[in-house]
Amino acid sequence: MMENISKSFNGITVLDSVSFSVKKGEVHALMGGNGAGKSTLMKILTGVYSADQGDIFIDGKKVEIHNTDDARNNYISMIFQEFSLIPSLTVAQNIFLTRESKTSLGLLNDKQCIEETEKLLEELDVDIHPNDIVGNLGVGYWQMTEIAKALSQETKILVMDEPTSSLTQKETEILFSFIQRLKNKGYAIIYISHRMEEIFEICDRITVLRDGKFVATEECRNTDLDTVIQHIVGRDSNKAFEWKERPYSTDVTPVLEVKNLQAGSKVKDVSFKVFPGEILGIAGLMGSGRSETARAIFGIDAKEGGEILINGEQKTIKTAPDAIDAGLALIPEDRRMQGLILEHSVKENIILPILSKLKKGPVLDEAKANEMASHFVEKLRIKTDDIFKTSRLLSGGNQQKIVLAKWLANNPEILILDEPTIGVDIGAKTEIIDVIRELADSGKAIVVISSEFPELMALSDRVIAMHNGQVVKELRRTEIHSEEELQHAIQGN
Ligand SMILES: Nc1ncnc2c1ncn2[C@@H]1O[C@H](COP(=O)(O)OP(=O)(O)OP(=O)(O)O)[C@@H](O)[C@H]1O
Ligand SMILES: [Mg+2]
Repeated sequence: MMENISKSFNGITVLDSVSFSVKKGEVHALMGGNGAGKSTLMKILTGVYSADQGDIFIDGKKVEIHNTDDARNNYISMIFQEFSLIPSLTVAQNIFLTRESKTSLGLLNDKQCIEETEKLLEELDVDIHPNDIVGNLGVGYWQMTEIAKALSQETKILVMDEPTSSLTQKETEILFSFIQRLKNKGYAIIYISHRMEEIFEICDRITVLRDGKFVATEECRNTDLDTVIQHIVGRDSNKAFEWKERPYSTDVTPVLEVKNLQAGSKVKDVSFKVFPGEILGIAGLMGSGRSETARAIFGIDAKEGGEILINGEQKTIKTAPDAIDAGLALIPEDRRMQGLILEHSVKENIILPILSKLKKGPVLDEAKANEMASHFVEKLRIKTDDIFKTSRLLSGGNQQKIVLAKWLANNPEILILDEPTIGVDIGAKTEIIDVIRELADSGKAIVVISSEFPELMALSDRVIAMHNGQVVKELRRTEIHSEEELQHAIQGN
């Protein structure tokens, strides 16, 4: 139990006398908009930060938690929103890295550690090997490794900060059945997520924070989605996820055409077209080759075959700058690592791709740059004290929004978005969906890769389903009547 916890950073209060409790065998959701203070509250519980005020009780006894060792000694572990893994190490090494008794490198290569990792991965039903180098794996697998890592330590209280943000439905289900088992074993689980459907599926109680303040704790079975959304945004929710038919023509030359693309082991034979003003959705399971296709188009991964045509003209795209020259922009899935310079300010990150356009002669037009940055901060509701704040100090979801803003500001001809609303709160999701639609309305071609069916259904004019490195199905939006149909399509049948 946490009682009257307060915390401020540089004089700015981010938690204001918040109380929160979790019971044995309970899954308790901690919810709230981006920047509400969820991660900070949990970082106080896990000893990453110290509270300015307030007390923590475990089993009715007051405890002092001032560092991560204190937390471990109280059997508290956390799956962090921003990954804590070291890319150059193997899965097994990462999992056992922080274990006090086993930190000598000799032991990290130990057979026992590999065996234990294997057992954990098996329980989680993940198809990776303990000796795989983490840096070579997709983000979904990073997340699974993080989860395995947290579970490898003796734990009573487990905090999961957006554990499913990079997982597709299938992996999410596996995780949920696992959470169910942990719950039955008497673990106390604190679950942070912006995916509303999940909360009602696995949680017993919900606590909502808004702007660092406690709003409400509700029993899940006594409340409903609308009430929770209202608590989160502090006003009535507007219908966010409705598809709108938008007129565009398919009788013209496609803006982007991909023909028989082949790259690495994940992209075997991918072909599709995107027309001006069209939003094409790509659905698929983790490992189906969705993100890899985007990376290959963009020149991050080498292509082994196939053609890319832009406005009917064949283009050679070997590097990301080639892609940008050709009018492409890619908003990558692992934005925090690929898309953001954490030590730079919000403004610097947003204007980075358009520096040359913002120059008056040799110098930067500061007024114009500030205006541009402020415009996007407002438009995407990025929660920051001002545009000069260091990006590292923003909450996870707000960092995601900066990367989105950065590519939107560049106004590309063709925009590929990989999981555009990962980690973004329910209020801002609507804004982002609107911004994407606006871009399409202005004639741009948009490709959206997403694990969230409601999002795909809200945005796409057409959906292609990928399975095992190939496009297995193509559906016009008007042909899709339910999420189950999409689920079917991505299973390759
Ligand atoms: N080390 C820090 N220094 C300064 N400000 C910080 C620091 N850590 C967090 N903040 C601020 O505290 C507020 C709460 O952040 P927190 O990460 O707890 O939000 P959150 O609820 O987890 O949001 P999200 O859903 O986006 O992850 C934000 O406004 C953030 O900018
Ligand atoms: Mg957070």
